[in-house]
Amino acid sequence: MKVLQVGAEIYPLIKTGGLADVLGALPQALQAQGADVRLLLPGLPGIIDAVLHAKRVAQVGPVLGAARVTLLLAQMPYSHLPVYVIDAPFLYRRGGGPYQDRRGNEWADNLQRFGVLGWMAAQLAQGELDPAWAPEVVHAHDWHAAMSCAYLHAHPAGTAASVFTVHNLAYQGLFPHDDWALLGLSSRYMSPAALEFHGQLSFMKAGLKFADRVTTVSPTYAREIATPEFGVGLEGVIRGRGADVSGILNGIDTKVWDPSADAALAQRYSAEQPAGKAACKAALQAQFGLAPEPATPLLGVVSRLTSQKGLDLVLSVLPEVVRMGGQLVVQGTGDSALEAAFRMAADAHPGRVGVLLGYDENGAHRLIAGADMILVPSRFEPCGLTQMYGLRYGTVPVVRRVGGLADTVRDAGADASAGNGFVFEGAQPDALREAIARAFAQYRAKPGWAQLMRVGMGEQLSWEGPARQYMALYEQATGARREVRQRDID
Ligand code: ADP
Ligand code: GLC
Repeated sequence: MKVLQVGAEIYPLIKTGGLADVLGALPQALQAQGADVRLLLPGLPGIIDAVLHAKRVAQVGPVLGAARVTLLLAQMPYSHLPVYVIDAPFLYRRGGGPYQDRRGNEWADNLQRFGVLGWMAAQLAQGELDPAWAPEVVHAHDWHAAMSCAYLHAHPAGTAASVFTVHNLAYQGLFPHDDWALLGLSSRYMSPAALEFHGQLSFMKAGLKFADRVTTVSPTYAREIATPEFGVGLEGVIRGRGADVSGILNGIDTKVWDPSADAALAQRYSAEQPAGKAACKAALQAQFGLAPEPATPLLGVVSRLTSQKGLDLVLSVLPEVVRMGGQLVVQGTGDSALEAAFRMAADAHPGRVGVLLGYDENGAHRLIAGADMILVPSRFEPCGLTQMYGLRYGTVPVVRRVGGLADTVRDAGADASAGNGFVFEGAQPDALREAIARAFAQYRAKPGWAQLMRVGMGEQLSWEGPARQYMALYEQATGARREVRQRDID
C-alpha cells in the first residue's frame, strides 16, 4: 500500500501542537505495518533546512502566485523516511511560524501557501511529478492539507483514494470568497455543496466533502462533531457523510516519551523502578522556586493557552488548590490574557505556583515527569496527547470527560482498580475542584496512588493499534475508489 502523508508540521522539525507529534510518529508506525509511506511537506525553513540528501524531482510553476516551485525528494532526519518537500521560496521562506507571522497574525497568503500543498499532493498522486512513485492513498491532515481531496476529486480520471483526518475542527482555513479563483478549480466547487461556507471559502470543507474517508483523532470526538455543540457549524456536513466518518484514537511515540530512557530527566525511572520520579519532582520544584516538599501533591499543565483548553477553570480554582496544600506548575504559550493571568497567579502564590510562558520540548518532558498529576480540563479536545504522556510517566491525569480525554482516562472513583485517573463532567470550576480534591485525597492515601500510577504506566498507548486501523481504512478507501472507477467505466 503506497501512502502519502500530507501535513504542515512535523515533530521534531516544526511543531505548534499535537498534529506535529502525530505526523512525526504515524508514518513510521504505518511503515512497520508494511506500508510504503512517504511524506509531503511545505518547504518551511525548519523543514527544508533540516531534511537530508534532497534531490530535485520536478520543477513546476508559476503556481498559485509562486513563480518557481520545485519538488524535492529527501529523507527525514532520525527516521530516514522518504519526504517530498515543496521548495517554493516565495511562499515558504520567511521568519515567523507556519501559519502566522511573529505578531500572531495569520499570513495573508495562507490560501496560496496551503493551496499549493494540496495541489502538489494531487499532482503527485496522478503521477505527474515523480515518474518513480505515486501513492494509492493520499492521507491529508487538517485544513492545511485538505485541498488535496478537492483537487483529487476534480480530476475525472483520478485513481488515488483520499483520507482526511480532522485534528481540530475549530481551525478551518477560511478565506474570502473572491479569492477562490486563485485555486484553479471549476466554479462548481464554489457552492454551498462544495467549498463555500457561509459566504466564505473553507479548506476544511474540501476534506470533509471530497475525501473518500474522513477520520478524526478519537471515537468520542467523531460522535461529538456531528452535534451543534462541537460541530462549529459543520455538523450537517459531517452527518451528511454518514458511515464514511470514523474515529481512530491517536497513539503516542513510545520512544520519544519513555521515562526509562528520557535524556531530559533529572533521573530516569520505570514502573518497575519508580524511585527516580521523586528526583524529577524535586528538580521541577527547584526549577520553579516551589517549596521542596516531597509529599505535596504537585499538579502540572503543558498546553497551548487558548480557550479550548479550559485553563480559565484552573485559574478559578487556584486559590483553593493552594488552600488544599497543593502546588501547580504551568508551561504554555498563547492568549496574552491567559499568559498575564498565569503570571499574576505565580506572583500571588510564591513557592506554590510556578509558570513558564514559553515553548520548550525538554521542559515539557521534565514537567510531565516531575508532576504527580497532569491537568487537562479542556472545553473540547479532539484527542489530547499530554494526558497520555502523563499516563506513560506515572503522572495521573485529571481531565474533563470530553473527546479523546474521555477515551483515554477512566475515573478511579467508583472502581479504583479499573481507573487510571480522575474525570469530571461539567466545564465548571466546582467540577474541576471536586476532581482535584479527590485526586489529592487518593494521593495522600499512599498505596492506592502507587496502584494508579502502575495502571497508567502499563497502558497500551503505542501507534501500533492505530496504525493497523488506518491500514484497514486505506484498504476500504482504495476499494471504494476502485468501485467508483468501475462504475464510471461501465
Ligand atoms: P494540541 O494539539 O491541541 O495543542 P495535544 O495535547 O494534542 O494538544 O498536543 C500538544 C503537544 O504540544 C504536546 O506534545 C505537548 O507536550 C506540546 N506542548 C504544548 N505546549 C507546550 C509548551 N509550552 N512547551 C512544550 N511543549 C508544549
Ligand atoms: C489537535 C487537537 C488535539 C490532538 C492533536 C493531534 O491539535 O487539538 O486534541 O491531540 O490535534 O491529533
